[in-house]
Amino acid sequence: MKKLKAAIIGTAGISGVHISGYLAQPEKVELYALCDIDHEKALKVAEKHNVPKERVFTDYNDMLKDKEIDIVSVCTWNAAHAPATIASLNAGKHVICEKPMAMNAKEAAAMKEAADKSGKLLMIGFVRRYGNDCRVALDFINGGNVGEIYYGKATYLRRHGFPGGWFGDKKYSGGGPLIDLGVHVIDLARYLMGGHMPVSVYGVTSDKLGCRPELKSTTKDHVSTSKSGDFDFSVEDFAAAMIRFDNGAVLSVEASFDLNIKSGVGNLELFGTKGGLKLSPELELFTNINDYPVNVSFADSTALSFSGLFEKEMVHFVDCVNGVTECISPAEEGVILMKILDAIYESAATGHEVIIK
Ligand SMILES: NC(=O)c1ccc[n+]([C@@H]2O[C@H](COP(=O)([O-])OP(=O)(O)OC[C@H]3O[C@@H](n4cnc5c(N)ncnc54)[C@H](O)[C@@H]3O)[C@@H](O)[C@H]2O)c1
Repeated sequence: MKKLKAAIIGTAGISGVHISGYLAQPEKVELYALCDIDHEKALKVAEKHNVPKERVFTDYNDMLKDKEIDIVSVCTWNAAHAPATIASLNAGKHVICEKPMAMNAKEAAAMKEAADKSGKLLMIGFVRRYGNDCRVALDFINGGNVGEIYYGKATYLRRHGFPGGWFGDKKYSGGGPLIDLGVHVIDLARYLMGGHMPVSVYGVTSDKLGCRPELKSTTKDHVSTSKSGDFDFSVEDFAAAMIRFDNGAVLSVEASFDLNIKSGVGNLELFGTKGGLKLSPELELFTNINDYPVNVSFADSTALSFSGLFEKEMVHFVDCVNGVTECISPAEEGVILMKILDAIYESAATGHEVIIK
């Protein structure tokens, strides 16, 4: 099998786990080229991983001219996902693009079209699909232990957790906690609920708290991630929604950067005709045995483990490119997710239910 040459677009935060995912497969992948509009950042990463300076770029169009590159990780802020992904696909590269797939469903559809035209893989970084908790939950669901799932409850609530910088600036992010955090749990819920198509959405968003740079910490000099740099805070700080699927099942979602809640919550609960599943902090099944209500927990830990999580995703990407396996988070799943997010924002803006076509 040919060793794949990998390039990274956007060499800061999340790119680190893409790079370590590639480096974990030295017989299959070589970290080959890097691109960031901030040249210094990319050069530092290049130095750390022995990527020659000639293969460090500030414009991905220049980098993508290199025919040697086989695969590309798009790890930029959200506004650059669509242009960088489309340029990579048009240049004949396979792409893994970080979540959220794009700023909106229109961009996502254009990305999928580019993938279809090029015949190359476009995988979306829905990393929660690769979690150990997801694997066990799916096994339990497929084993018939939950029955027909008719309701789900997904939460990703932070008490004070605005990530700072561009994440708060709508021009770069497309939105706040809904598109940044909600996207993870909505996708995970939809995946575990059987991957049904969304038909309608009622959503609300709020920006009453903002990013609260004034908050004090009892343990640190200051707690805030603040507005930082040249970015404006122009997104929601809280979002909630009810999503209806074509099989009649409903998912409720709550996501926040800032909320006056005792402590942050990240959880997914699924309710079926035979049992209920709760994913966090440990997976539990609520069912009946011999007509007694019984709670089932696992002897071994089922808590989501971040150790090796992204590596699993990157191994899957490389295996898909090599034709070893079928992609479990392809572009079409990202498009559906973006339609849900668009509908929630539209419903929040209009105050009405939005029908998804
Ligand atoms: N899967 C996850 O759990 C997870 C976690 C964190 C971030 N993310 C996603 O990863 C993406 C990046 O987030 P981050 O935290 O790494 O952000 P970051 O700000 O740390 O890094 C983004 C980098 O992209 C660069 N960039 C922007 N536009 C570019 C362009 N046109 N060409 C080249 N480089 C460009 C920026 O200069 C910056 O260095 C976001 O979409 C975010 O939602 C996913």
